[in-house]
Amino acid sequence: MTTLGARIELGEFFTETSDPALLESADRGQVKLLDYKELYELWERQQWLTQELDFTQDREDWRGFPADERRQRMYGLSSFFTGEQRVTEELGPMMVAAPTEDMRVFLSTQIADEARHVRFFDRFYSEVGVLGAETLDGRLEETSAHLNPAFETLFEEMLGSRVRRLAADRTDIGALIEAVTLYHMVIEGMLALTGQHFIIDFNEREGTLPGFVRGFNFVARDEHRHVAFGARFLRDVVAEQPQHLRTIQRTLEESLAIADQVLRPPWVGDDDEYEYFGVSLDETRAFAAQALTRRLKVIGLTPAAS
Ligand SMILES: [Fe+2]
Ligand SMILES: [Fe+2]
Repeated sequence: MTTLGARIELGEFFTETSDPALLESADRGQVKLLDYKELYELWERQQWLTQELDFTQDREDWRGFPADERRQRMYGLSSFFTGEQRVTEELGPMMVAAPTEDMRVFLSTQIADEARHVRFFDRFYSEVGVLGAETLDGRLEETSAHLNPAFETLFEEMLGSRVRRLAADRTDIGALIEAVTLYHMVIEGMLALTGQHFIIDFNEREGTLPGFVRGFNFVARDEHRHVAFGARFLRDVVAEQPQHLRTIQRTLEESLAIADQVLRPPWVGDDDEYEYFGVSLDETRAFAAQALTRRLKVIGLTPAAS
């Protein structure tokens, strides 16, 4: 075990998941995706503890940020804190609806991961003194004030409607494919991992929030494993039922414009150029698009134009 708060030696830290986005061979559609049991076994080997993270330096750093920087950082982090809480709940009906026991066992581990991610953010927010509320529920309510409207559309209307369909009928495979496309490909694959990449990079360059960065690297590794499941699931489903390529395509067409708006902070006007965590919106979009393209190639789908 490395010293608490120390930087993680990356090496194969992320690529062990076989997430196609991390592998150049995915540009040619060539990646050996792990199967569900291998993904489960990887989860057993990749455990981590939120209670071991040391936020002492983070508390000092946060106090030293100017008010405007705190507000900007808060927006990015709030989307994650609330997002983790939403996906923990929404994964329940998806797990029950998965057609095989191997898939259900893996998705059960993912529910535990998402709950750990909620605890990670909760611990960061309370120890660093970012929010005033006393309880987890209170902190979630306080942080939701920082979200933009596109976030609600994506999580509540788009993903929420599929999850409600699955809760009513666990055999609705079309709803499950749509939910996995939204959850694993768009929300985790494009939004969460893109945000995580740039937020970690920015803090490492600035030398800020070391406890947070360490924990967020563990969160990102979990997310790569989740997305690797999503890619495997979608590839397996369309291999059996090729007509569902269209289901994935349609869901992406419906959601990509909204996902793009989630990347845009609420204080930025539609035509404004801006940098967030040290990168432009175009760089952020390019990173998200490359990740999506690689995963879709492996699934057998050329990406929808965005
Ligand atoms: Fe998560
Ligand atoms: Fe996740």
